[in-house]
Amino acid sequence: MPLIAPSLLSANFLNLQQDCDMLNNSEADWFHLDVMDGRFVPNISFGPMLVDFFRKATTKVCDVHLMIEEPEKYTEAFKNAGADNLTVHIEACTHLHRNIQQIKSLGMKAGVAINPHTPVNALQDIIADIDLVCMMSVNPGFGGQSFIAHTLQKIKNLRQMVDEKGLSVKIEIDGGVTLDNAKSIVAAGADVLVAGNTVFKSGNPTQTIAALKAIQ
Ligand code: DX5
Ligand code: ZN
Repeated sequence: MPLIAPSLLSANFLNLQQDCDMLNNSEADWFHLDVMDGRFVPNISFGPMLVDFFRKATTKVCDVHLMIEEPEKYTEAFKNAGADNLTVHIEACTHLHRNIQQIKSLGMKAGVAINPHTPVNALQDIIADIDLVCMMSVNPGFGGQSFIAHTLQKIKNLRQMVDEKGLSVKIEIDGGVTLDNAKSIVAAGADVLVAGNTVFKSGNPTQTIAALKAIQ
């Protein structure tokens, strides 16, 4: 069964308590929290302050996806805000290995996100040091985009790399996950499904989460 990580980017920001309660009472495993700086991606979302509020609203894993430049400047702030997983983009990190060590030294799980154009092979020399790969299946910046079909082959390649090395790195797929494509994404080797619009814009988010969770 995949882990389900609804993206709060698609939640109702005028009533976050209600959406947090819904997730807490659902089969959702993680809160996926998308941080955007308007530089690495062409959109601005929220920062550590809101992560801190989410932390207090749930006991589930807070999975923080940083779509920001110079993430090393904010690692400690996100630790203090209560992040469990902290994911940085390979494309934003000149000293990725150092950034990963920093995240782990603060006691968080470390993730690396890769954009659609970044080959899986770019992970070869960092994969053994991390807990999570966040593979973008859309160009980061916005919820509600369509899944890029080529990602399926990338998932298979990454699954093979992780298994060949005997690692337990989780493969998380982020962007355009729907009830229609989730099965093939899991079949390709994904462990974690991020879902924003599919969950929050559905008539019954709790049921949608359960349907995603039941996929095998
Ligand atoms: C995109 C974010 C995603 C996004 C997913 O930049 O990283 O987490 O919110 O939203 P959906 O599932 O609607 O594509
Ligand atoms: Zn994300």
